[in-house]
Amino acid sequence: MADWGQFETLRPDQAGTTSLVAGASRGIGRSIAIGLAAAGASVVGLARSADALDDLGDEIRTGGGEFLPLVADIADLEATAAAVAAAWRWKGGLDSLVNSAGATNRSSALEISPAEWDALFDVNLRGAFFLTREVGRRMLDGNGGSIVNIASLSGVVSDGAQVAYSASKAAMIHMSAVLADHWAPKVRLNCISPAWVRTEMTRDYLAVEDNVSAILQRTPMGRIARPEEMVGAALFLVSGMSSYLTGQNLLVDGGWTA
Ligand SMILES: NC(=O)c1ccc[n+]([C@@H]2O[C@H](COP(=O)([O-])OP(=O)(O)OC[C@H]3O[C@@H](n4cnc5c(N)ncnc54)[C@H](OP(=O)(O)O)[C@@H]3O)[C@@H](O)[C@H]2O)c1
Repeated sequence: MADWGQFETLRPDQAGTTSLVAGASRGIGRSIAIGLAAAGASVVGLARSADALDDLGDEIRTGGGEFLPLVADIADLEATAAAVAAAWRWKGGLDSLVNSAGATNRSSALEISPAEWDALFDVNLRGAFFLTREVGRRMLDGNGGSIVNIASLSGVVSDGAQVAYSASKAAMIHMSAVLADHWAPKVRLNCISPAWVRTEMTRDYLAVEDNVSAILQRTPMGRIARPEEMVGAALFLVSGMSSYLTGQNLLVDGGWTA
């Protein structure tokens, strides 16, 4: 009889784990929160929109899961620290963090103001870093964990996004790699970099037919991604299935960079 016990951790089962998903109120983060709950995790959802988090909580509880909503703006470092402390207290720890909170800005390089630049970096980089540090510090003192940052194809190649957004995502990818080195082996950090996904963030851009055809020309899969298509990568990266993977950037890009 074969001994399959060694493969016990090689499944995305998250029963008994607790995950904090920042940016859970809509889009990619909402899908990942539901995917984690469906895999058995207790999920803390963080965002600024209380009503949207309540809707998500209803959906997760209807499916038999457990959910804690936390309303916070990740650009506000004190509020973020308080939210992480509350998330940690809920079940006595966190096994994973998925940071999908992010903003965009369509101002071109020649137009963008210093205030717009700062506002974007306050969320996409500064906010993401201090959130990651609040969680990472506790994981390092505790049982370790896995952190997944939602970066972007825009942080790797020029894909139609504007410069501030693209630069913030490139910085997030490198920040994650450096922290992966510093915090190994207890805490793993990886990025998921989606190409274009249909969410509120991209609704206006993807409403323009020329933008969509330019994207499709460069996308071997021949279509724009759905938010649910980021869930598999997230489950893989938080679970034991990726136990030797850290510091990587997983491009879920429909083949754009192939
Ligand atoms: N859609 C794409 O094509 C695409 C492609 C590559 C990467 N991404 C990245 O994927 C992530 C999710 O994007 P999405 O498309 O799902 O966008 P979305 O639908 O606009 O959702 C963004 C999420 O981030 C939260 N958020 C934004 N600013 C926040 C802040 N200051 N504090 C706390 N939460 C904040 C929003 O919640 P509240 O408004 O309720 O706070 C929302 O839950 C982002 O990091 C984005 O850059 C998206």
